[in-house]
Formats: sequence, structure tokens, C-alpha cells
Amino acid sequence: MNTNKLSLGIVGGGPKSWIGHVHRISARFDDKYEIVAGVFSRNAKLSINFGKTLGISKDRCYSTFKEMALKESKRNDGIQVVSIMTPPSSHQIIAEKFIEKNINIISDKPFAGNLDQAKKLYKKIKSNKKIKYALTHNYSAYPMVREAKVLIEKDKIGKIEYVNVEYIQDWSGGTKINVRNAKKKLKWKIDNKIVGASAVLNEIGTHAYHLATYISGLKAEKIFADIKQISKKIKMDDNAQVMINFTNGAKGMFWTSVMAKGGVYGLRIRVFGSKGSLEWVQNDPNYLKLNPDKGAVRYLERGFHNAELSKKFSRIKFGHPEGYLDAFANIYREFADSLKNKSKKRYFYPNEDEGLETAKFINACKVSSKNKRWVKIK
Ligand SMILES: NC(=O)c1ccc[n+]([C@@H]2O[C@H](COP(=O)([O-])OP(=O)(O)OC[C@H]3O[C@@H](n4cnc5c(N)ncnc54)[C@H](O)[C@@H]3O)[C@@H](O)[C@H]2O)c1
Repeated sequence: MNTNKLSLGIVGGGPKSWIGHVHRISARFDDKYEIVAGVFSRNAKLSINFGKTLGISKDRCYSTFKEMALKESKRNDGIQVVSIMTPPSSHQIIAEKFIEKNINIISDKPFAGNLDQAKKLYKKIKSNKKIKYALTHNYSAYPMVREAKVLIEKDKIGKIEYVNVEYIQDWSGGTKINVRNAKKKLKWKIDNKIVGASAVLNEIGTHAYHLATYISGLKAEKIFADIKQISKKIKMDDNAQVMINFTNGAKGMFWTSVMAKGGVYGLRIRVFGSKGSLEWVQNDPNYLKLNPDKGAVRYLERGFHNAELSKKFSRIKFGHPEGYLDAFANIYREFADSLKNKSKKRYFYPNEDEGLETAKFINACKVSSKNKRWVKIK
């Protein structure tokens, strides 16, 4: 084995999981990790067989994450990092097992299933100075999103006044969801014990809120939310509109939906400041629109001379498209660098502080929607 690479173990992301594939590609993208161990499914036989197809040695294809944490921690060449890509409510309990064994964590979102779990996980991460934690809020890793973040830090659009963010999908697949087909179509997403506090907010709303706070540098202070469920019989949250008052006085509008018919992967954000605005749309990720309050609109292009910071997070020369996988892999690349580099270099990958904020936001949305009132984030 190449000793320069970090040894990586994986929990979740079995054969049918799309995001499992994304994590494995991202880990290999920059040759910083070697996938050496894993438990990929709740079904032990399936997990072991799948592990073998990835070239993992038989003795490191495990049946449960507990077994993997224990056995890997006893090996001299045990895993240094574990990536977790299981459904939301299991993130806390799995991460904690590996934190106890001093193994660094890359976890998919949401940070945890609900606020209670999030607080416990946060405490556990902070209690172990030997480990680091990264959360794959992957949209924040697009080069032009990071460019936007730094332009705002440099006061290019002035004091932030309004933020408008939306992330919509259509999980109906063109058919009407009813009690007969809901389980087959939506699987664990209709089970609150697995999806956690809210399906739409835990699955995609969390990305939108994270993106809004990541780019703007603001946090929500108070929110008013209106959350809808599929029906009285299928109590899965499928749509949420939220008014946000940010800590600096800025106002925000947030919309997330998984039943917006025909709305496929609609993630976009607009941030308006006292001197102009910025707009980024995931379907056109290589560009950032900068609208000054006076003068012509400017399109900033990834990797081009007018978007200096973005070059640090790109691999493909400007003019050629770069996208989702490249951005996802930025989190893996930076995390590997942060584990090896002891200097005080700035890292842009999302961490446990951001994770806890998203859980607080989602919890406040639930309380607000239930009681039909403004709720403070705490
Ligand atoms: N960052 C993103 O853009 C993005 C996109 C899709 C999904 N996700 C997140 O990834 C996670 C998984 O979602 P999914 O759509 O892949 O779900 P999925 O149901 O398709 O796959 C989950 C996999 O994890 C396995 N698993 C569950 N519990 C396990 C356990 N205890 N030990 C080992 N394996 C276990 C399952 O068998 C399955 O193979 C969720 O948290 C979801 O929010 C993130």
C-alpha cells in the first residue's frame, strides 16, 4: 500500500446507494485515500460481497460498524478516517463509535437526525482533540461558491441585506404519491425514526440553509416556518417555506420542496448587499453573477483571472466544464490536507460547528410551524 495515502473505511453507501458511489469516487479523485475497510449495508452478506467487488480484503469487509470500529482500532495499519453515508438518524451513533477510537470522520449530511442527537454528537467531537470532523455539505465546495464567500468577506457587495435561497426536487417521479405506493417510492424517507426531524429539511433543506449561511457568513437569529406534509395519512414533510431574520438584521427567504413537480435539482441562491448582489445556480456552477448597484452585470468564471480564489478549488482549466464530483472531492482533498498539515492554514470544508447550526435551524422550523409563531434559534 502507498503509505502517503490515508487509510479510509466506509459505513453505508451499499450497492444501490447513489451517494455511496459519489463518496468513493471523491475519495479516489486526488489519490489521497485508499479504501481499505467497510461495512456497506445493514445486510451483512450483501455488505461483504460488495466490499470484495471493491477490492477490499476479506478480513476487512465487516458485518457491522461496531465490529469495524473495534477491529480497525486494534490494527497497526487500521483506518485513519471513516466516511459515513447511512440514513440521517444513524449518523450520531456511528460517528461516536469511531470518535471513541480516535478515528477521523467524514460524514454525509444532515449532521444528525435531530437536535438532541446533534448536541450529543457535537459534544463528543469537541471532547476528542485527536480527531477532526468534516460534513459533506458538498455544494459549499464548488469553486464559485467559495469565490462568492470570499467576495462577501472582502465587502464587494457591502453589508448583506437580503438572502434568497431555494432547493427543490421532485421525488414523485411523475406519479401521485398515495398510501399504496408511498413506501415503495419514498422508502425510509417516510419513516421519521430513520429520516429524523423532517424529511424535506434533513434531506435537502439543510443544504440550502448551510449554503445561505456559508456564503453570507450570517446565522439565523429568528425564523418563521410553514412546513407541509404529503397528506394526513403520509406524514412526511415535503415542503417548507421559511422567513429568516439574520443576526446582522438581514432578511432571508428560504424555500425547499421535494414535491415540486418537474423541479429537478433546483438549487440557487441570491445574496443582496448595500453595494450589489451575487447569484449562483447549481445547474450552471462554473459562473457567478455579480450585479453591482451601478454599472453592468459581470459574469465571473471559475478558474479565470477575475475569480482568483476559485483556482485553488478547480482541477480542470477554465472553459471546460467542471461539476458535482469535482466539488464533492474538494472536501475529501482539503480534509486530507488538514489531517497532514499541522499549520494554521485556513480550510473551507464544512465542520461540526456548521452541522450544529443546521440542526438548530431545522428544530426551530419544526417548532415554528407547529405553533405558528416566530422562533429564536438556540
Ligand atoms: N450530499 C449529498 O448531496 C447527498 C445526496 C444523497 C444522499 N445523501 C445522504 O446520504 C445518506 C444516505 O442516503 P442514500 O440516499 O444513499 O440512502 P440509501 O438508503 O440509498 O443507502 C444507504 C445505505 O446505507 C446502508 N446502511 C444503513 N444503515 C447501515 C449501517 N448501520 N451500517 C452499514 N450500512 C448501513 C444501507 O444498507 C444502504 O446501502 C443520507 O444521510 C442522505 O441524506 C447526501
